[in-house]
Amino acid sequence: MKLGFIGMGNMGQALCEGWIKADVLKPEDVFAYAPHQDKLKANAARIGFQPADSPAALVQAADWILMACKPYQVEAVLADIAPLLNGKVLLSVALGWDLAKYQTILGRDQAIQFIMPNTPARVGEGVFLFEEANTLAEDDLTAAKELFASLGQVYTLPSRLMGIGGAISGCGPAFVDLMMEAFADAAVRYGIPRDLAYPLVSQTFLGSAKLQRETGIHPAALKDAVCSPGGSTIRGVLALEEKGARAACQAAVDAVMQY
Ligand SMILES: NC(=O)c1ccc[n+]([C@@H]2O[C@H](COP(=O)([O-])OP(=O)(O)OC[C@H]3O[C@@H](n4cnc5c(N)ncnc54)[C@H](OP(=O)(O)O)[C@@H]3O)[C@@H](O)[C@H]2O)c1
Repeated sequence: MKLGFIGMGNMGQALCEGWIKADVLKPEDVFAYAPHQDKLKANAARIGFQPADSPAALVQAADWILMACKPYQVEAVLADIAPLLNGKVLLSVALGWDLAKYQTILGRDQAIQFIMPNTPARVGEGVFLFEEANTLAEDDLTAAKELFASLGQVYTLPSRLMGIGGAISGCGPAFVDLMMEAFADAAVRYGIPRDLAYPLVSQTFLGSAKLQRETGIHPAALKDAVCSPGGSTIRGVLALEEKGARAACQAAVDAVMQY
């Protein structure tokens, strides 16, 4: 597979670096185009991919194209490269650019897969939501899922659920980061040094998430198991309830979905 990135910002770098580091893709098989060529070349030297000096050169060099520029830039990029995409596979992580939207420009014959990624891809713990509706050949779909599964977990969702899925997995890291910061501040307040507070909190989040994922035990049962009768943990849990932690989580997702 020769893969070409259109856009090499935060998400492009997270994916590209992950695949090259894990030896899933070879540096000579990965290409990228971005308008600020100095920055692109500096990233190319650091990560190992091959820089391209135009979107057309990129599409000619690669057989798989990964659209990773900002959503509002996609239409102009397509105007440049649409005729060159024939026979190539187009993957896209641009928010809002689902299959139906691409097809209004590229028609029904183009192989297209919309994927919602998230930033923990950088450390191999990403969530990748594949839109169920796609126009990839079966072998290509399998290859695309394998590629992304090398950097996290792949889930397939119907088009109508991609928005809420992305609100949880795409925005979720920011929600979790805010909570980690808040617990670290609380730890510092009671004397834990700042540089120990973050690893202490992040390992607690990581371990709790892994325990739930690997055992499949309901989060409420895991919580119950930690709360001994008359103990201190249940007092903390009830304080979170009193302060509306559960409602705050719901409100965060409501706010995202109102957009
Ligand atoms: N970051 C996330 O957590 C996240 C999550 C889900 C989905 N996404 C999606 O991932 C995509 C990229 O997001 P990001 O956070 O990586 O953005 P970003 O850091 O701003 O990167 C955007 C990239 O696009 C390039 N670019 C700008 N204009 C372009 C053009 N006309 N043609 C081609 N490339 C162009 C930029 O190049 P220059 O630097 O040279 O200008 C930069 O490399 C977005 O569509 C977003 O919806 C991101």
